[in-house]
This record gives sequence, C-alpha cells and structure tokens, in this order.
Amino acid sequence: MPSRQKLIFALVVLLIAAVTGAGALWLTRGPGGPISSGEALVGGPFTLTDQNGKRVTDQDFRGKYMLVFFGFTFCPDVCPSELQVMSAALDELGPVGEKIQPVFITIDPARDTPEAMKLYISNFHPRMVGLTGSDQDIAAVAKAYRVYYAKAKGSESSPDYLMDHSTILYLMGPDGKFVKHFTYNTDVKALAEGLRNVIQ
Ligand code: NI
Repeated sequence: MPSRQKLIFALVVLLIAAVTGAGALWLTRGPGGPISSGEALVGGPFTLTDQNGKRVTDQDFRGKYMLVFFGFTFCPDVCPSELQVMSAALDELGPVGEKIQPVFITIDPARDTPEAMKLYISNFHPRMVGLTGSDQDIAAVAKAYRVYYAKAKGSESSPDYLMDHSTILYLMGPDGKFVKHFTYNTDVKALAEGLRNVIQ
C-alpha cells in the first residue's frame, strides 16, 4: 500500500481505538463516578409516597432486602400475577422471607393514588409497600431501575387506558445495591429458591 494510504489507514485505526476506548470508559462509570466493572447499573436514590400518604426514600429501606416490582393497579394480568408470586414466595421462605420487604411501585401515578395503592396491595402480601408519586418522581425511579413504561398504543385517549411496562423483579440488598433480578416467568418455587440462595 502506498505510504499516503498507510498513513490514512493508521489514522482510521487510531480513531476507532479512541472512540472504543471512550465508550468503554463511559460504560464502566456510573452516575456517581467510577464503579467496579460488571456491577449492574440498577437502582439508586428515590423519594416517593407510600400507601399511607407518607413520603419515603430508599434510605428508609436500608437494613432489609427489597424485592421491587413496577406496574399499575389497573393491570389486567401481569401485575396481579407477579405480585401473587412474590407474596407466595415470601410466605414459603418463612423467617428468611421476613428479611425481605416486598415493594410495588406504580408507573401509572395519574390513577394510582396512595388510596388506590393501599386498597390494591391489600390483595397481596400483608407487608407489601405500595409507592406512588408525581410524574417526575416516577420517571426518576423508573429511570434508575431501567424500567420502561408507556401508555399502550391505541388506548391513550381512553380513561381505561392500559400501560406497557417492564416485568423484571429486582432484589436489592440491605445496602440498597442491586443483588439480582428475576424474569416474569419465574414461578413461586424457583423464586423462593433464588432468594434463599443469596439471602444471609
Ligand atoms: Ni402490569
């Protein structure tokens, strides 16, 4: 290859290396500065309103594991089914289950008032906490947990609109840090087993 072409080729290689390097650096730094590589960027500070109308933050849950699911009380199938599985798994764990705080966070704050949340979670685990807040509060916590939500296409203008949302269940540690996640199709036995394996 002529020397001019060699030079251009070398510059292109250098440029690709620089872009890749910057990208890798960006990926390994969390919002709060450098993090250890491989640590999931899930969770973080939040301020929300519980089912009794009290403002709470992530700090209020320190010292306990949090099992967190995002959804909405008008959900016809996915949410009730998952909250049922969470509740049954905690019961199955007995004393170990008592170390876990089940948390349901709405992604439909317009309809899910604290009162609506209180009524809804009473169908599930007696220790379940239901969290709502302003649109901004919910947008912030959903972003922190990498949760997707949006009004379902076609139903936006109806008062009975549905919401599309992520269905990942998150286990956060007593220090507030992400421990592991479970997918929607995890059954009661597998969830209880998966929790028992990581909870001290
Ligand atoms: Ni749902």
